[in-house]
Amino acid sequence: MSSANLTLPNDFFFGAAMSGPQTEGMYKAHGKLENLWDTWSDLDIRAFYNRVGSYAGNDMGARYAEDFALLRDLGLSSFRTSIQWSRLLDVDGKLNVEGAAFYHDYFAAAREAGIEVFVNLYHFDMPVYLFRRGGWENREVVEAYANYARTAFAEFGQEIEHWFTFNEPIVEPEQRYEHGNWYPFLHDFAQARRVQYGISLAHSLAVGAFRELQAKGVVRADAQIGLINCFTPPYTREDPTPADLEAVRMTDGLGNRWWLDLVTKGRLPQDVLDTMAERGVTLPVRAGDEAILAQGKVDWLGFNYYQPARVQAPSHDVDEWGNPVFSERYVWPDAVMNKSRGWEIYPKGIYDFAMTMTRDYSDLDWFVSENGIGIMEDKAVRTEDGRIDDTAYRIPFVRDHLQWIAKAIDEGARCRGYHYWGVIDCWSWNNAYKNRYGFIEVDLSHNYERRLKASAEWLRHVATTHCLDEA
Ligand code: BG6
Repeated sequence: MSSANLTLPNDFFFGAAMSGPQTEGMYKAHGKLENLWDTWSDLDIRAFYNRVGSYAGNDMGARYAEDFALLRDLGLSSFRTSIQWSRLLDVDGKLNVEGAAFYHDYFAAAREAGIEVFVNLYHFDMPVYLFRRGGWENREVVEAYANYARTAFAEFGQEIEHWFTFNEPIVEPEQRYEHGNWYPFLHDFAQARRVQYGISLAHSLAVGAFRELQAKGVVRADAQIGLINCFTPPYTREDPTPADLEAVRMTDGLGNRWWLDLVTKGRLPQDVLDTMAERGVTLPVRAGDEAILAQGKVDWLGFNYYQPARVQAPSHDVDEWGNPVFSERYVWPDAVMNKSRGWEIYPKGIYDFAMTMTRDYSDLDWFVSENGIGIMEDKAVRTEDGRIDDTAYRIPFVRDHLQWIAKAIDEGARCRGYHYWGVIDCWSWNNAYKNRYGFIEVDLSHNYERRLKASAEWLRHVATTHCLDEA
């Protein structure tokens, strides 16, 4: 796409996305309970890049006032983080007053700096005592999450306008239970879908609690609730066979339509459930579940976009663990890769998703809730004044994505804003600080000191003018 003079609407918002467990640090302060990341860090610190485990964060728990000022100075108006379940509640599921006080102070500092905080409730960070009781497969844990959500709404309902139940609910089923990448490293497709179902019920119960508390005036009247997912626009080879298209249908169904149908129709896509059942995978459905899922409709949606899904017909029906296989990776010869992360860079995917939303889910507002580029040798080149010179890759990456968003909006997409992932470098799960996403450097060898990178000026220009021309 040409870099012609494109402009985003005046009311289009720019902001930053991060999460509690990746920024706060202070992993034992305020009586915080152990979460799954703390457990994995304790069990095997070598699994984390440079042995930097969950304790790290990026020191935002201590520096939040300074960080909100930095974000504001870049022209950003909003910031998404997550409350940590393990900090807000105690082991009996009751409010942890010290943890709550931390978040009250945090939100107040953001308000003072002119930054609106969007609050997400769950970002892959289950308290480990609940995981040990069966995690999302156990209905008591689903109920415990609903209690957590209700407690958060009651505590912060007058302060927060934008709420989200989950970030990327597809990721734990895949990473922990299906692909074996994250603790506890399982390879069980059926279990992953049971987990996905438990999360779907948990989301829906939380939305139900939100509506009830809003009707009672506990949650402010202008508040909205949504879900954030990493939707991956699905593609296959040119001249696909029917089997390739079937692989696309199931990839789209399990990763995208599952959540889109839940949050717009209050149910799961029947064609996906039917195909799973044909292969012997069924969900632990109970009487009353239909009514719970029906509560899952949201006010708006967050779309995290990093990469598309390129798939083709699988060469095997069953994998080495006995799981049914519905698709396999298609290596597109023209793919441009971010080699640090191993993810394809395909800005047009954002437009294709936007068009799907406009066609199939046209009633729903949404925003790009994460997008960003993590680079391993980010600090390799510095300008004379000592700033990381990331302009050659970070600016084109963001500009190209914003241009496709501008085009989609011109064509009717209801995309309301853009949050860049990790505006301030932050901890990336087991990749820790390997790949840096930030427009603001975090210097680990100098007590997490912040320093603007060279591209930050460009971000400020775009966020304040909404123009995508050269800065
Ligand atoms: C998203 C997550 O999947 O991608 C973030 O919501 C994550 O938590 C981000 O950090 C970037 O991925 P990674 O693995 O490079 O940190």
